[in-house]
Amino acid sequence: MKMSAISTDKIIKFNYDNALSFLEPNVLSLRCNEVEQKVKDLYNGVGKGNDKLGWIDLPTTLTETDFSQIKNIADDLRNICEVVVVIGVGGSYLGAKAVIDALSDTFAHLNNTKPLVIFAGYSFNADYIAELQKILFKKEWGIVVISKSGTTAETSIGFRILKKDLEAKYGKDNCKNRIVAITNKHNGALKQIVDKEGYKVLHLSENIGGRYSVLSVVGLLPIAIAGFNIEQLICGAVDMAKELRQHSSIEKNISAQYAFIRNELFRKGKNIEILVNYNPKLHYFAEWWKQLFAESEGKELKGIYPTSANFTSDLHSIGQYIQQGQRIMFETVLSIKASDNKVTIPNDDNNFDELNYLTDKTLSDINGIAEQGTTKAHIDGGVPNMRLEIPELNEYFLGQLIYFFQMACAISGYLMGVNPFDQPGVEDYKKNVSDLLHRNDK
Ligand code: PA5
Repeated sequence: MKMSAISTDKIIKFNYDNALSFLEPNVLSLRCNEVEQKVKDLYNGVGKGNDKLGWIDLPTTLTETDFSQIKNIADDLRNICEVVVVIGVGGSYLGAKAVIDALSDTFAHLNNTKPLVIFAGYSFNADYIAELQKILFKKEWGIVVISKSGTTAETSIGFRILKKDLEAKYGKDNCKNRIVAITNKHNGALKQIVDKEGYKVLHLSENIGGRYSVLSVVGLLPIAIAGFNIEQLICGAVDMAKELRQHSSIEKNISAQYAFIRNELFRKGKNIEILVNYNPKLHYFAEWWKQLFAESEGKELKGIYPTSANFTSDLHSIGQYIQQGQRIMFETVLSIKASDNKVTIPNDDNNFDELNYLTDKTLSDINGIAEQGTTKAHIDGGVPNMRLEIPELNEYFLGQLIYFFQMACAISGYLMGVNPFDQPGVEDYKKNVSDLLHRNDK
């Protein structure tokens, strides 16, 4: 059986032809029932981790009132801040950072773009915080602190330090206009602080895990503060959600196709998946994707190791390994079709570099050709390849892509037999750090 990619122009396309040749010819027919059952289990809420499925219908349930509330809070901060520091770690920052970086002018920080959204509280590094403190001292600024549990050490410590600075600059009372918190409704230190200090607060539902939360207030508030269109982001996610729901069969459901093929490649010893981009703006999108898949699948001694590469720069480093190292990986390429920026190659009378044959070609043309040539070289070298064709890098298609990967990750986790919605390993590390810090206290 050959699965067909969805053809409508509005939906991103998934092409796996260059992975199929690495699998047995009839593998799709043999396992399609199993895959379709996993998709049904997910929608029917009968699989593992079924108390954390709030993300499935989230985009379709957001209302005008939800958007207005988020945008009003964002505007309040935009009006008074040159810099907004978003404090959070893991699922409480990577999605927002991914979308903001993908959509931002790369040099916005040199261009006095206001407000600049900066992230903190994702490490214990002193240099980062000290340098941030120095620059914030000279700026008008505010804080969005995000922690679902309200107890994560990196976030809590970062917030404690920066909150004190903010209070010193504006006074405790004025901080009510400059601090917004996102946390759960019921417990945790952050909730207690918010209740006591009277900060504005938005809540994240219990049934949405951190790494599946970018399309909730967790991602939407920072993205709105950065000035991007959150309705369009959600519109893309809604369209992808509808597309996937109406096709539970593997012949049409592109998330199921991707989940299935990567599981089959894994069975063939392809233990590493490289998410490849040809646009450095997608670097953090890959960081988000890595977290999504690593935390969802890496457990019970299972899981594909997710990593990423920025091409063509990384072709001059790990490209060598991909071409000729151990044959243990496959690639998934994020292929952006069009860019508004038409940069052409100028003619040069001397032509010492012998590049005049490229005169008037655009950089996007050349990047596209680099993608074709690299893909062929890697396939020829034994690296299976899948490709997501994204018409444009904008809010709408990012919304589609995010939802596509969330759904694929859940199906893929079910195919692997794990609970894709818990993270017991992360909890282990959090507990150890907390225990050690308390021990050093005595
Ligand atoms: O996906 C997850 O659940 C984790 O990565 C969390 O997002 C991360 O550990 C931060 O947790 P919290 O939002 O509770 O501070």
